[in-house]
Amino acid sequence: DKGGHKHFMSKEIAEQPTVIAQALGHYLSGDGAIALPEPGIDFAGVDRLTMVACGTAYYACLSAKHWFEQIARMPVDVDVASEFRYREPPLPDRTAALFVSQSGETADTLAALRFCQGKAGSILSVVNVPESSIARESDLVLPIHAGVEVGVASTKAYSCQLTVLLILALKAAQDRGVIGPDEFADHVSALRGIPSVMSEALGIADNARRMGEKISQARDVLFLGRGQMFPLALEGALKLKEISYIHAEGYASGELKHGPIALVDQNVPIVVMAPRDRLFDKTVSNMQEVMARKGKVILISDARGIEEAGEGTFGTILMPTVQEVVSPILYAVPAQLLAYYTAIAKGTDVDQPRNLAKSVTVE
Ligand code: M6R
Repeated sequence: DKGGHKHFMSKEIAEQPTVIAQALGHYLSGDGAIALPEPGIDFAGVDRLTMVACGTAYYACLSAKHWFEQIARMPVDVDVASEFRYREPPLPDRTAALFVSQSGETADTLAALRFCQGKAGSILSVVNVPESSIARESDLVLPIHAGVEVGVASTKAYSCQLTVLLILALKAAQDRGVIGPDEFADHVSALRGIPSVMSEALGIADNARRMGEKISQARDVLFLGRGQMFPLALEGALKLKEISYIHAEGYASGELKHGPIALVDQNVPIVVMAPRDRLFDKTVSNMQEVMARKGKVILISDARGIEEAGEGTFGTILMPTVQEVVSPILYAVPAQLLAYYTAIAKGTDVDQPRNLAKSVTVE
């Protein structure tokens, strides 16, 4: 049932405020304490975290790396599952291995998990399907409570994965004694605010449709982001490729001049994801480099960012202002809506893109 929407994908994008609220309800108690499912985990006994996943779930891990490093001061490795297992990485026993998978059935992720069994100190999984193989073989299962996701392009599962991973990073920070009560309370309040700012962010739909129509004319599209926004640039490019079949690449803004800027001319839309955070000025100077080469910049930022840097761009998408820590969750929305409306303009099959399956159960 598409609930009045034309596609499952648009229904699932629209559901995000509700399902994130659900996920928060499962992990945060009324007094703001974090409650993990049994048997729980104490990160005081963990020295290193290894995260493994594929596709969009892998990008969620890249965002989580920022959180675990910055908030919990914990060393983190992130790998795509198909690369991880053949490298046979050493896993000291105070390593926790964390697997992220919507379906819980992705063959490479499951094989990576099995590689870690008996080596890592504990096996954790963040899944949408609690009855899945990955969940069954984990020591601790953290369900994301996103509800069934039908669209092949992952949307609400991604933002719920991010939400649960941020909560887990906060728990790790607490267990390791590296976060004070005020900072902790600030992060919890930022988390609790997500459903309402996400509803507000869904209001960019008309603007995203107009931008999508423009993007649909392009042959190549670049997505740029720095710091916390780099994984979002990768996710925006993946979503666009998957459902519109337009060639898109996500780059760390600072990498631009190390090669990709050679692609830029007046035919290339460049989507810049840049909330007005502490890295904003650096991203803007990268953005100006592509504008000087006539690249068509679409700047996605908050009111202050657009006021400071919107001039001379091809288009802007105005996002609500949020605490820096939760911006990756919020900026999932423009990544998804730009892809969705580009695909609509091209008339491709949004829910069932060619060559793709919802769950990849072969290597
Ligand atoms: O079920 P999983 O989360 O393990 O799936 C991983 C990827 O196959 C998946 O995220 C894929 O990249 C999506 N189609 C992206 O939209």
